[in-house]
Amino acid sequence: MFQYKNNELYLEDVCINDIVKKYESPCYIYSKKMIEDNINKLKEVFEDINIVFAFAAKVEGNLSILKILSDNGFGCDIVSVGELKRYMKVGGDTSKVMFSGVSKSEYEIEFAINHNIHMFNIESIPEAKRINSIAKSLGKNVKCAIRVNPDVESSTIDKITTGKRGNKFGISVDAIKENIDLLKGLENIRIEALAMHIGSQILKAEPFYEAIKVMSELKEHLTNIGFNIDTIDLGGGIGIQYDKSKDAFDFDTYKQKVIPLLKSMDVKFILEPGRFITGNASALIMKIEYIKKEWDKTFLLTNAGMNDYIRVAMYDAYNDILPIIKHDGQMIVDIVGPICESSDYFAKDRMISTVTEGDFLVLLDAGGYGASMSSNYNTRELIEQILVDGDSHRLIRKKQSFDSIIENELSCL
Ligand code: LLP
Repeated sequence: MFQYKNNELYLEDVCINDIVKKYESPCYIYSKKMIEDNINKLKEVFEDINIVFAFAAKVEGNLSILKILSDNGFGCDIVSVGELKRYMKVGGDTSKVMFSGVSKSEYEIEFAINHNIHMFNIESIPEAKRINSIAKSLGKNVKCAIRVNPDVESSTIDKITTGKRGNKFGISVDAIKENIDLLKGLENIRIEALAMHIGSQILKAEPFYEAIKVMSELKEHLTNIGFNIDTIDLGGGIGIQYDKSKDAFDFDTYKQKVIPLLKSMDVKFILEPGRFITGNASALIMKIEYIKKEWDKTFLLTNAGMNDYIRVAMYDAYNDILPIIKHDGQMIVDIVGPICESSDYFAKDRMISTVTEGDFLVLLDAGGYGASMSSNYNTRELIEQILVDGDSHRLIRKKQSFDSIIENELSCL
């Protein structure tokens, strides 16, 4: 969807050079069409499956983006009441909300019960007891899934692996079996579902297959001892092609192996995609303030920093970076931000087409955990977000003001 026409970069039918003239950089830009294309791709893969899609709001929480998803029938996977409030703000259907997360507070549980979410994905035995007792005090009976830690290798970055022994997420099959009488005895929760989420940015189908097999066996076991498991929540995790020279997610194997396995199980499914929906549909636009040559290096010093996009600093992530106007020639550069941290970089020793001071760069595939993980570090304001739709564009978040950063700090005078 990002492509050069006469050496100028376009998103859909909008020239990025027009965007930087109209809006303030750094900024995030989103393509409505790419989001919809990604939705349609998933709908095609799961066309014969009884499934509800629930967007993982942590990936991108902007209200205008959530609205696109809710308009397309998506529910929501939340990990906080803040995310639930965002989804409700756009008129989202709370009966399609799944509440995951390992440390839900009493307030959050009560709020979610009172707003009739679809289910809680229970991550520990003490949490099951807490949800039960809050439900009891409210005179309610709530649907729950046990989030299973299937102990499978998901072959992704260690820091975003969640379904392995030793991770804080989910409950092991052994612990579920050991505590089964206790769980059965909790009268104000109905354990009718199993949930998994084995990690993020997974590019192979096998880890999903292995984990779903564990779920399927556990479902049989629970059914045999009197549980009525009617739903399996498959979590998220489908990765995107950050590096175009490497493979994209293996949908072929997924269709050959995973889809038949799903069809063999007599349940409804939930999928909680995040990165796959918005990841490649957004980019971070930044300006080159200076070019600094030192030792054998050329640093492009940009006006975006790790506070705007932290994934490179945090996970050593790779993102393609393109100039918005392509000139002849190439150069090898480090692309770095203004933050006072040596980890504040977006690329090292990267070959890009020749740029000069004042030019703009676009960091691609920034729509998964990009804006949503940004912060005010170095007292920098959260930046503008812009939505492109065909040949039109509009601001969907203003730049934060300095006053709003400090508004909760009490007077020192
Ligand atoms: N469901 C649950 C329960 C999750 O914890 C997550 C993500 C998702 C769904 C969505 O996963 P996705 O489809 O986006 O892979 N900040 C890291 C990723 C953290 C993932 C957290 N959980 C990153 O920037 O790579």
